[in-house]
Amino acid sequence: MHENQFEMWTEKHRPVEFSEVAGQEQITKRLAEFARSKSLPHMMFAGPAGCGKTTTALIMARSLFGEAWKHNFLDLNASDERGIDVIRSKVKEFARTKSLSNVPFKLIFLDEADALTNEAQNALRRTMENYTNTARFIISCNYSSKIIEPIQSRCAVFRFKPLGPEHVEKRLSRIAEAEKIKISKGALKSAAEISEGDMRKAVNILQAAATTKDEISEDDIFEIASRAKPKEIGEMLAKAVNGDFKSARESLKKLAIDQGLSGKDIITEMHKQVFDLEIPEKNKVAMLEKIGECEFRLSEGCDEIIQLESLLAQFALYAKRV
Ligand SMILES: Nc1ncnc2c1ncn2[C@@H]1O[C@H](COP(=O)(O)OP(=O)(O)OP(=O)(O)O)[C@@H](O)[C@H]1O
Ligand SMILES: [Mg+2]
Repeated sequence: MHENQFEMWTEKHRPVEFSEVAGQEQITKRLAEFARSKSLPHMMFAGPAGCGKTTTALIMARSLFGEAWKHNFLDLNASDERGIDVIRSKVKEFARTKSLSNVPFKLIFLDEADALTNEAQNALRRTMENYTNTARFIISCNYSSKIIEPIQSRCAVFRFKPLGPEHVEKRLSRIAEAEKIKISKGALKSAAEISEGDMRKAVNILQAAATTKDEISEDDIFEIASRAKPKEIGEMLAKAVNGDFKSARESLKKLAIDQGLSGKDIITEMHKQVFDLEIPEKNKVAMLEKIGECEFRLSEGCDEIIQLESLLAQFALYAKRV
C-alpha cells in the first residue's frame, strides 16, 4: 500500500531539467540553446496531451531565471481565464514591471490557446506585439491548425510528438523505482500501450495501480485503465440517441481531450454499449453499422474528433426520426 496517495505523481515526478524530458530531443536541444543565450523568439508548442509542453515551458523558465523564475513567469490558461480581456489585463499587469533578472524579458505561457476564438486570437496577437520588448510568449495548443496564421508566423513552432512506448516504459520504471514499487515488464508494456504516448495518463495509471498494491502486474494495469470509462461513454451515447447532440459533443470533448482517451478506445466501448441502450433493435443495428464505418475511417487515420462527432450527430438524427 502506498502511503502518500494524495500527492499527484505527475507533479512530484515532473522533470525539472531539459535532460530529464523523455523524447522531444530536437526540441529540448534547441530550447536549451535559447536558454543559454538568454535570447528567444515567441514560441508555439503544439502537440497532444501529456507529452511535455507545459513541463518544457516550466523548465525554460527555470533555466532562464533560476531561483527567481516564479516572478518572471506568468502561467495562463486560455480556457480558465474567462475571455481575452482577462488575459490581456493579466499580461499588462505582469509585463508592466521589468524582469528581476539579467534576462531582458519575462516569459508568458498561454496554455490551451486553441480554446480561443479567432477574434480573441487577433486580440492576443496585438498584445504580443505590444509587449514584444518586455515579454516572450509561449503559446501552447493541441492543434496548431486552430491557431490563426498571424500568430503562427510570429512564433517559432515546436511540434511535440506523442511519446514512444520505450520512453514511457523507461520513465514509468524510474518512477516506480523512486516510489519503491515493483512492476512487471508486462505491466510496464501495457501501461505504455494504453497511454498511447500520453505520459500524464501513464503516470496516473501507475499511481492508481500503486494505491492498492506495491507489486503491480499486467492485470492490475488493465483493471485500472478500464475503470470509469464505460459509464461516461454510456452517458455520452444516451445523450446522442436522445437527440441532445450538443451535450453528447461536450462529453466527447471531455473524454477525448481532457481524459485523453483515444478514438479507438472510445469507439470500442461505444460498440459494447449500444446493446444496453433502450432503443428499438433496428436502430441498434443501424448504429452498429455506422460504428463499423467510423472505426474503419479511424484506422485509415482520419481526424478522430471529427469522425466521432459526425457519428454522434448521426445518432442524434435517429432520435429525431423515430
Ligand atoms: N516528455 C516527458 N518526459 C517526462 N515526463 C513527461 C513528459 N511529458 C509529460 N510528462 C509527465 O506528464 C505530466 C504532464 O505533462 P505536461 O503538463 O508537460 O503535458 P502537456 O504536454 O502540457 O499536456 P496538455 O496538452 O494536456 O497540457 C508531467 O507532469 C510529467 O510528469
Ligand atoms: Mg499543458
